[in-house]
Amino acid sequence: GIVVSSLLRDTGLVTVDPGFMNTASCESRITYIDGDAGILRYRGYPIDQLAESSSFLEVAYLLIHGELPSADELSAFEDRVNRHTLVHEDFRTFMGTFPRGAHPMAVMSSAINALSTFYPESLDPFDPETVELATVLLLAKTRTITSYVHRTSRGEPLLYPDYSRGYVEDFLRMTFAVPYEQYTADPVVVEALDKLLILHADHEQNCSTSTVRIVGSSHANLYASVAAGVNALSGPLHGGANEAVLTMLDEIQANGGDASEFMRRVKNKEQGVRLMGFGHRVYKNYDPRAAIVKKSAHAVLQALGKDDELLDLALGLEEIALSDDYFVSRKLYPNVDFYTGLIYKAMGFHPSMFTPLFALGRMPGWIAQWREMMNDPQTKIGRPRQIYTGEVEREYVPADRR
Ligand code: ACO
Repeated sequence: GIVVSSLLRDTGLVTVDPGFMNTASCESRITYIDGDAGILRYRGYPIDQLAESSSFLEVAYLLIHGELPSADELSAFEDRVNRHTLVHEDFRTFMGTFPRGAHPMAVMSSAINALSTFYPESLDPFDPETVELATVLLLAKTRTITSYVHRTSRGEPLLYPDYSRGYVEDFLRMTFAVPYEQYTADPVVVEALDKLLILHADHEQNCSTSTVRIVGSSHANLYASVAAGVNALSGPLHGGANEAVLTMLDEIQANGGDASEFMRRVKNKEQGVRLMGFGHRVYKNYDPRAAIVKKSAHAVLQALGKDDELLDLALGLEEIALSDDYFVSRKLYPNVDFYTGLIYKAMGFHPSMFTPLFALGRMPGWIAQWREMMNDPQTKIGRPRQIYTGEVEREYVPADRR
């Protein structure tokens, strides 16, 4: 419940709500979640229908503009995004200047922030045409940046986009193709990645989205706002969980693969160890995205002929959790990230790329939420209050008398 902590003489009633468990920061028409029932809808459309039948760019359009596009509107939007995937040549040079071994999320947030310096014509947050341009540039260039983040971390040359291919297909080519060699993406991989991007596209007022909104509430430009969102996403309790899940599975495997022993440590809270990829602030039921990802993990691994014993380990951990009182009583179920890493790994991504892929997927949601906030007459600069618990008043003492 809300802790009503203090009645201050100068401010009136102030509530303390650590983690914003009960405090709504805004009204929103974008995403609906019923955490108890395990329901997620974008603009009213159930997530399973969108994951099954839509495409990532169509979902991006839906989130940002509020309605599904007509066939003509969709192809014009896809075309516009595709044609902006090329980045300024100096930007390519800039991407090559990060040290090898830098975490891809650090490179990604820096690169997205740097877009504002390369495209100054797209910065005005109050001009609708400029905002639309920044929207398209971000969707387009984040895709290129994500593939460059992968390539620079391996010291590989950066490829140019091919406008004739689809958004996800060309992303895979720019990420994995050998220069000057013909590249054909596996349709199973294209479909699975498209689906994963859809599942990550928005999730209402999570940590990174709230960050985007609060930065934007100061009228910072869209690039600065979403770059802050990328940084918020990098933490292991948020987007970083998909990478942490794979590290956890690897460690269990390296220690003999004993799932029960690991779960014993989790339940005893030994060294704060958690079952990564489990639990959610809002879902107190099976995360509907996790159910779709779990199915997809089986399909992708099977289609690629990859037998990953870590998938069996993950299934074993889930089975233990779903019948264990520790997890049942706390309503801890797999979240979207429990199985995503296994799919990304099968596709050939290094674990450090898992969270950048989450950021690529979340971009439409951040943009939609930022735009909604900027157009909301109720918006004010985000400025939480505090309950001061420090010293009342002290007299300054010079250093030689302390
Ligand atoms: N493993 C073990 N115990 C857990 C876990 C977990 N993954 N998650 C929560 N708990 C326990 C806590 O220890 C706590 O127990 P207690 O009541 O005995 O103290 C109880 O469940 C409630 O947990 P909180 O941390 O208070 O729940 P909160 O809503 O603050 O945290 C969070 C949600 C951060 C997602 C948490 O469940 C967690 O750390 N999960 C692991 C990381 C993860 O997978 N993050 C991805 C989230 S989804 C996303 O960003 C896409």
